[in-house]
Amino acid sequence: MSKVNIKNIGVFTSGGDSPGMNAAIRAVVRTALYHNLNVTGILRGYDGMISGEFKSMDRKSVANIIQRGGTVLKTARSDEFRTKEGRQKAYEQLKKHDVDALVAIGGDGTFTGAKVFSEEFDIPVIGLPGTIDNDLIGTDFTIGYDTAINTVIDAVDKIRDTAESHDRLFIVEVMGRDSGLIALRSGIGSGAEAILIPETKTDINALLSRLEHSRKDKSSKIIIVAEGDDAGGGFEVAKVVKEKFPAIDTRVSILGHIQRGGPPSCMDRVLASRLGVAAVESLIEGKSSEMIGIVNGKIHFTPFGNAIKHNKEVNSELLKIVEILSL
Ligand code: F6P
Repeated sequence: MSKVNIKNIGVFTSGGDSPGMNAAIRAVVRTALYHNLNVTGILRGYDGMISGEFKSMDRKSVANIIQRGGTVLKTARSDEFRTKEGRQKAYEQLKKHDVDALVAIGGDGTFTGAKVFSEEFDIPVIGLPGTIDNDLIGTDFTIGYDTAINTVIDAVDKIRDTAESHDRLFIVEVMGRDSGLIALRSGIGSGAEAILIPETKTDINALLSRLEHSRKDKSSKIIIVAEGDDAGGGFEVAKVVKEKFPAIDTRVSILGHIQRGGPPSCMDRVLASRLGVAAVESLIEGKSSEMIGIVNGKIHFTPFGNAIKHNKEVNSELLKIVEILSL
């Protein structure tokens, strides 16, 4: 790996947005300018790359965005980029706009596309993990996860107030199509009585028996369910609970997309800033086709192929904590 002659870095966000993406964009732009490089913002992810939605970015274009959720570059999930023709068009647009390196901010789908693209064409790509799901290998936390779990516990604290007043059981469904990491941490943080996640087989009978034998003096109960759990989402779980315990006053709350919005937490802003700086500096150093994360406090590089499509191992200590503390 040797220093390469990059003049213009393209930056884009892709897939589901996550709080802290703007802080990452800001860090990429300002680091590139610090190193006397030009920066081009690519709008709407791979779709905008294909259709040529490019804009030149300067110091001012990223002012006052570190605190904002969402992404000023917009985002999309692109079907066209999955095709060879789509990627060819994207390459031609990049050449036309003199973009000679890319920083891709997103998750699994973003890096799957980036991996293929960087194998087919001579444009280096570095990835930053931006997803609320925290489901990428090669980083302890993804940008947006901390904010999302804090949004969940804020909501569950409020639900707990009304649950307690009415002596109710609430089944709260949180995001995580393939991953239970939002459910797991927010469940521990909100003192949930049970947490159902796709990584572990949900034994619905064990859950029912747990409810039957749980302390009778507990006036409210919260079950957190990841949307992708094998037992189904919040309504499916509630149906089974209501059939077995018609006397328990049960309600369902689906938190939905509020989990993706809002101002990023300080943890997410700092994470995004560190990764944004490292992304530009690693492109200058000649790296490509790798995702940058932070593992045990240090910058860490993972080839795209290893970062995606592997289920992150669930921390068994956290699972044990749920078991002990929810009694
Ligand atoms: O960003 C990932 C994620 O939050 C998943 O957990 C969720 O299933 C999905 O996005 C939903 O995204 P959308 O409704 O935008 O397709």
